[in-house]
Amino acid sequence: VGADRQMAQRLREQLPSPILELFEDVGRLADGNGMQVYVVGGFVRDLLLGVNNLDIDLVVEGDGIRFAAELARYLKGSLRTHEKFGTAVIRWGDQKIDVATARREFYQYPAALPQVEASDLRQDLYRRDFTINALAIRLNGDRFGELVDFFQGCKDLELGLVRVLYNLSFVEDPTRILRAIRFEQRYRFSIEPQTLGFAREAIARQMIRELSYERMVDELILILSEENPAPALRRMTELGLWEFLLPGLEWTPWIEVEVAAVPPLLKALAEAGLPVPQRAWIVYFYVLARHLSPEGLRFVNDHYPLKQALREGLFKLHDQGNATNQALMDWLRGDHPLSRLEAILRDWPDEAVLALRAGFSLPDTLRLTAAWREIRQTRPRLTGRELKTLGIPPGPVYARILNRLRLERLDGRLEDAAAERAFALRLVKGDAPVGEAKGGHHV
Ligand code: CTP
Repeated sequence: VGADRQMAQRLREQLPSPILELFEDVGRLADGNGMQVYVVGGFVRDLLLGVNNLDIDLVVEGDGIRFAAELARYLKGSLRTHEKFGTAVIRWGDQKIDVATARREFYQYPAALPQVEASDLRQDLYRRDFTINALAIRLNGDRFGELVDFFQGCKDLELGLVRVLYNLSFVEDPTRILRAIRFEQRYRFSIEPQTLGFAREAIARQMIRELSYERMVDELILILSEENPAPALRRMTELGLWEFLLPGLEWTPWIEVEVAAVPPLLKALAEAGLPVPQRAWIVYFYVLARHLSPEGLRFVNDHYPLKQALREGLFKLHDQGNATNQALMDWLRGDHPLSRLEAILRDWPDEAVLALRAGFSLPDTLRLTAAWREIRQTRPRLTGRELKTLGIPPGPVYARILNRLRLERLDGRLEDAAAERAFALRLVKGDAPVGEAKGGHHV
């Protein structure tokens, strides 16, 4: 009881007040319906670790969907239900609340179970991946804040161990192999030795191949979305996972250097006020994929459901990566105009450029990024409408003229609108070639 009071106290101290109030409301609502409700999983784990986590997973002993509907009404949030699974998702502002019905297993437990009152919850938690993710906190009024720890998850949190709840966990759900690595590295824990043995067995039995490519790439993306994925990637190498996820990837010290260079690079970009990719995982994905063999690249392209732009970036890196990096180095060393850089990087996604630069000089890359942003932001002073007032007949030529004006401006020529007007007219008259600029680009 002392520990429970402590937990309730901890909830009160550590949670932002809207969440605390939400939990109290949830508890009251469950009381009114004669249901038991718990917050479970990653939220509890992170609360105990003192880490912020805004994904709330509730488990209800009782009709979870009915409860979710009532909670959504009460909160005036939106509701989506999955009747088949007895689950629902409530969106309440930018908060997401998952509600699940505690699941019973198909087989019957012996009648004289010691923990009868919480057995639904127990079984629900037992089906989960790791002890540290199988903790729950009761939200019902009279026992608000009571920590439910059937499987010594607290102890594993203290010991820093990722431990499965049953031997076949990885066989049943091979994504858990990657999840184990992700949690291990995120919290600087260790995969508990027996658990590691189970993982190795599942890997040796090639269980990962049972997963759909979609789930494989989803898990890989989750790892690449961690703050610093490098240690997890190293761990994947050690466990021999690349042959399933990115076949043909040979983990070399150079890849390691590149991957490790990405976090400081992103940090430096942010500090310099330069644009940082929203989805950093793409940078890592490019770094890895750049080192794939042609067969590996084909595997990725054939199997993984990726956006077209991402695919194009991959092939670009493969086909033109080295040459482009060389061109960038030349640009950096020489005193070259911005239009030249524009010509080099025109079709390159930002993430691919960063992937290309990872492992090279950071100040150089910052300079490149700043220049590239300037290129992106530079527009000609004239607009299409002004071209019309100059008497130039509208047509596809407008895009070419405006682009040419932009390039001239980039390189510091055409210092005002009047100069641009004059230049536009010269272009149309044919005094200056529309299709070519000094930097050697094509319009
Ligand atoms: N879970 C599981 N097996 C999986 C995926 C999830 O048992 N393959 C369970 C875990 O108990 C987990 C919960 O479902 O805590 C929610 O999953 P998810 O939101 O993916 O994980 P979190 O633990 O919240 O992790 P993260 O911090 O990465 O969101």
